[in-house]
Amino acid sequence: MKTVLEVEELTVDIPTEQGEVHAVKGVSFNLNEGETLCLVGESGSGKSMTALSIIGLQTPKARIGAKRLTLLGKPLHTLSQRQLDQIRGKDIAIIFQDPMTALNPTLTIERQMIEGMMRHEGVNRRTARERAIDLLNKVGIPQAAERLYQYPHQFSGGQRQRIMIAMALMGKPSLLIADEPTTALDVTIQAQILELIRSLSQQLNFSLLMITHDFGVVSAMADKVCVMYQGEIVESGTAREVLEHPRHPYTQGLIACIPVPGRTAPGSRLPVIEHPLLLKEQP
Ligand SMILES: Nc1ncnc2c1ncn2[C@@H]1O[C@H](COP(=O)(O)OP(=O)(O)OP(=O)(O)O)[C@@H](O)[C@H]1O
Ligand SMILES: [Mg+2]
Repeated sequence: MKTVLEVEELTVDIPTEQGEVHAVKGVSFNLNEGETLCLVGESGSGKSMTALSIIGLQTPKARIGAKRLTLLGKPLHTLSQRQLDQIRGKDIAIIFQDPMTALNPTLTIERQMIEGMMRHEGVNRRTARERAIDLLNKVGIPQAAERLYQYPHQFSGGQRQRIMIAMALMGKPSLLIADEPTTALDVTIQAQILELIRSLSQQLNFSLLMITHDFGVVSAMADKVCVMYQGEIVESGTAREVLEHPRHPYTQGLIACIPVPGRTAPGSRLPVIEHPLLLKEQP
């Protein structure tokens, strides 16, 4: 199977007035073609920093180190910002929690969807527009051909998330990075969007690096899982291995917090993770 993304010993250090923050401390993982890897961990564990530094979107003062960081065998961390710009939006796309960070409120969906493609691929407006309509249909925006000319505020939150996904896929990326893409949505819409991303990844065969703090998302989507805690991967494996036999106390704690129909008594209290005490039990 073709390896799409290789990350070996990735470190991210951020100088601050209080000293250096070691946000990512030697993270390694591989992602194969068509595969979904979930990076899971609590707030502040370094998930976003890992994802952003892969594509050079980390905060400018951060220092990135890596033994190996490649997309389809080509090194990423030695590229200039300009070369990275070429790759972003084409080979690698990223979607965030809040669609309004990706959508410009003052431009029509059409402009936002097609201009990147026209620039990156040198195609004409008509070809780009056809692809935009096709993708909007795929993500479930009805009457895409007309709605293309509307502005972001004319869509609901869930629809904006769908548009952001369609926009991310315009360049036919080999890798989609999704950083908590559904956290801001209500639960039913969340499930629909996750299912949409999952089915698109199969249809269009891109690899997916999915960031979440929710093991429910892991069980719904992931082939592989890396659990992050304080900047390190403390456990990794196939989703099944990790969900069925979590070895690390932190992972066990997180999994115990998912209510399971039939197993968790209605109204019962779910456990609370009391890290870092929990971690002291580690050998
Ligand atoms: N611009 C910054 N300057 C200084 N420290 C930062 C900056 N951005 C992030 N950090 C620190 O880096 C660490 C990792 O942050 P990161 O955003 O990767 O966490 P995360 O796992 O994505 O959390 P969340 O689930 O809340 O999004 C945290 O300790 C955070 O405080
Ligand atoms: Mg984050």
